Amino acid sequence: MKRLGIISLFVLLFAAFIAVWNYSYQQGKEEAYISLEEETTLYAIPSESGVFKRSEHALDYATIPTDFAHQRSLDDYYDNRAYHGAPPSIPHPVDEHQNAGDNSCLKCHDNGGFVEKYNAYTPVTPHPELVNCMQCHVAQNTNTLFKPGNFAKVNAPEVGNNNALLTSPPVIPHQTQLRENCLACHAGPSAPREIRVTHPERVNCRQCHVPDTKELIEINAFTRKNNE
Ligand code: HEC
Ligand code: HEC
Ligand code: HEC
Ligand code: HEC
Repeated sequence: MKRLGIISLFVLLFAAFIAVWNYSYQQGKEEAYISLEEETTLYAIPSESGVFKRSEHALDYATIPTDFAHQRSLDDYYDNRAYHGAPPSIPHPVDEHQNAGDNSCLKCHDNGGFVEKYNAYTPVTPHPELVNCMQCHVAQNTNTLFKPGNFAKVNAPEVGNNNALLTSPPVIPHQTQLRENCLACHAGPSAPREIRVTHPERVNCRQCHVPDTKELIEINAFTRKNNE
């Protein structure tokens, strides 16, 4: 009887120990656990999130050697645009099977790379999410259809003259709408050589570069005079 009493006492003590240990273990776990729901309330500023879009390639960009024979210059870059900021035209043939909405353009334009038959590096698109590419980009089919008019091109901002002091970070001379994804245009072998960044690995470009507010004038709501 005495032995049975001692054994059941030990069983009871053991069970109590397990219960207490388990309770304190669960308590400790809860303190160390940061719930995901709370984290999702920390939103990034949506219009700035594009700055980090190609950040996983930043270190690759830093180590890609310069292919001097196939560089683009800013003049080549502007030549393919009706005006500064206009969607560039498609300088290569477009296969009839490359339809709106499928991902065929992105096969090349998502990550770039050298294309033997065009003898050029593919410019990386800053906006792979706008899959209907041909909505805005059209092939160059003709040079004769359009008659010259009095349309004046908007001059592109100057490059190399945007810093207050010699080694201070230059301001961003262009607007950032459709240009949030800095590394798409400023890094890699297809970036025009004048604007290829020496420091792609810094990733958070907007930490040091601020927009030049001269270009970002607020356009007020348009009201027709006799419409009131
Ligand atoms: C086989 C790979 C490949 C495919 C597929 C492809 N492109 Fe390209 N694209 C290139 C290359 C390479 C260049 C650069 C050509 C040059 O500089 O002469 C280019 C240039 C462009 C440019 C000019 C960019 C600039 O900065 O001037 C546009 C716009 C473009 N492509 C749109 C498209 C669209 C839209 C599609 C789908 C209908 C498409 N591309 C499919 C390889 C490709
Ligand atoms: C809503 C219109 C629109 C759609 C859709 C669109 N683009 Fe663009 N794209 C633009 C504009 C505008 C620019 C010029 C941006 C600028 O200079 O600020 C541009 C620039 C580019 C550039 C040149 C980037 C550089 O180096 O300057 C490439 C390449 C490109 N687009 C490819 C594509 C591809 C591929 C698709 C489809 C996946 C696509 N675009 C869909 C409007 C569009
Ligand atoms: C669509 C391509 C494109 C994107 C995306 C883009 N830029 Fe640019 N950037 C240019 C071009 C082209 C120039 C040359 C001036 C011009 O045409 O606006 C330039 C000029 C600059 C300059 C001035 C360089 C100098 O030496 O004076 C800075 C700084 C700059 N960009 C920063 C940025 C930052 C930061 C981002 C991301 C928020 C960004 N850019 C996104 C194309 C782009
Ligand atoms: C820590 C601050 C800092 C960050 C982050 C930064 N830059 Fe810069 N950037 C500078 C400074 C400083 C200069 C001027 C360098 C000089 O004059 O030697 C510069 C120069 C430039 C230029 C002119 C060409 C050149 O390389 O000198 C461009 C374009 C540019 N930055 C784009 C970018 C882009 C795109 C990013 C994001 C990948 C970025 N910067 C991130 C500080 C920064």
